Amino acid sequence: MSPLPPGIKRYTEHPFWQAVGILVVAFAVVVWVIPILPGSAIVPKSVVLQYMVTVLVGVLIYVSDNEARWRRFKEPIHAVLGEPRLRVVRTTLLVVVTALVGLVAYGQVSTTVAAPPNLRSIHPAPPTEITFRGKSITLTGLENPLRAHPDSLAAYLAEGKRVYYQNCLPCHGDHLDGQGHFAHGFNPIPANFQDNGTIAQLTESFVFWRVAKGGPGLPREGTPWNSAMPKWEDFLTEREIWSVILFLYDQTGWTPRTWEKTGSDHD
Ligand code: HEC
Repeated sequence: MSPLPPGIKRYTEHPFWQAVGILVVAFAVVVWVIPILPGSAIVPKSVVLQYMVTVLVGVLIYVSDNEARWRRFKEPIHAVLGEPRLRVVRTTLLVVVTALVGLVAYGQVSTTVAAPPNLRSIHPAPPTEITFRGKSITLTGLENPLRAHPDSLAAYLAEGKRVYYQNCLPCHGDHLDGQGHFAHGFNPIPANFQDNGTIAQLTESFVFWRVAKGGPGLPREGTPWNSAMPKWEDFLTEREIWSVILFLYDQTGWTPRTWEKTGSDHD
């Protein structure tokens, strides 16, 4: 490597400018480099601040560890504060620092017009196809397959009732109204199936998707989601889920929404 020109060397060997350099590099790493690493996300401002304070403390410990280095480190600060030839720098710093503090304070007290953060779409669009325990199921146009066996309906309803009482009761409640014993511990609260805003508006395939995938399976437009609704795919069979869906509609008296027939005369 060719030696640095003496003008630059004056800075690279000076503890004050070394410290400034380390802070700039540290800032660049945490703000620009870390977010592009695979698997990482943007670093929150509070973490950036914490990290920068840690780096600053480390740098200060290093420069003050040695008497001569500490004296040299303070030279530029003393110069800016006192030397007549640096009056312009001094004034500029004074103006910039004052303006920055003012801007930050203003940014914190001014109101914003951003939407409240908790708006979420209650019934986001379901995927057209899902995989259920490794098997792929097309949701579009799908009806509850158990309805194809009217003779066994009573048995399926009994199974659905068992599934409901064993699994759904603590949250969705005895009356299917979302008032289970655990309900008040959750936000969003468990769905009230008696209300005309839940299963009454949905196709059975939508309900199947929601029961199978639960809160974790909700798409992005459903965020922010902290839904406690479990992913029942892990605990129930396909038939158990279709049975509990039969039970939900039977108990509440709602009829599931059906798929509109795409008549050839329309398109
Ligand atoms: C730990 C609590 C909990 C349990 C147990 C639970 N759920 Fe839920 N469920 C929720 C919560 C909370 C919501 C509302 C948020 C959401 O839609 O994910 C919900 C929503 C739903 C919805 C969506 C309704 C709609 O309008 O979109 C269905 C369907 C549903 N649950 C069915 C069931 C069934 C069937 C069971 C039992 C197999 C069950 N849940 C067990 C907490 C629970």
